[in-house]
Amino acid sequence: MSSFELNKIAAAVLVAGITAMVASILGGMLIKPHALEKNVYVVEGVGAPAAASGGSAPAPDAPLEPIAPLLASADVKAGEAAAKKCAACHGFDKGGANKVGPNLWDVVGSKHGHSATFAYSDALKKMAAQDWSYEELNKFLANPKTYAPGTKMSFAGIKKAEERAQVIAYLRSLSDAPKPLP
Ligand code: HEC
Repeated sequence: MSSFELNKIAAAVLVAGITAMVASILGGMLIKPHALEKNVYVVEGVGAPAAASGGSAPAPDAPLEPIAPLLASADVKAGEAAAKKCAACHGFDKGGANKVGPNLWDVVGSKHGHSATFAYSDALKKMAAQDWSYEELNKFLANPKTYAPGTKMSFAGIKKAEERAQVIAYLRSLSDAPKPLP
């Protein structure tokens, strides 16, 4: 290969590099993202603790909207269908056995760690004094790992609020005396 040939190759590499650099500089000049001055959806209690803890954990994608307004009109049948993805780990029938996770009969309104026969993680045991209110379930099901760091529930979460409302409405129906809607 002649040195002229080598020069051409070197020049090609150089030009490609310069093009990429110029494109990235131009791109940076053209697009100027503006951060919102404040959140459009402000949800009480969400965001503040994460900021206060000062950890390196990424902020939640979006503040969680309250589930209460969605529950009244939530489709229980759709919730039952959506809960198929929980069924690998959870039973829903009264007196049913635990699987990978605890049986979920009558979980709404019960304490965290409501099954006497399931070996919960320390993360959930620490929360044993708290009720599974609709809003607590909402936060847990949106992102189990953020809500209860260290939980054994290996589930990414349900991203859509409407679907969470449906699943929670279905969980509410799993009771001899379903708790009143909020
Ligand atoms: C991969 C298995 C798995 C999947 C899928 C899963 N869970 Fe769980 N779930 C668990 C485990 C394990 C626990 C116990 C968590 C702990 O001890 O930290 C749990 C705990 C729970 C609890 C708390 C119960 C209590 O007694 O306090 C609720 C409520 C719950 N899951 C609901 C759901 C719902 C609803 C879905 C589907 C949208 C779901 N889970 C999907 C494994 C799973």
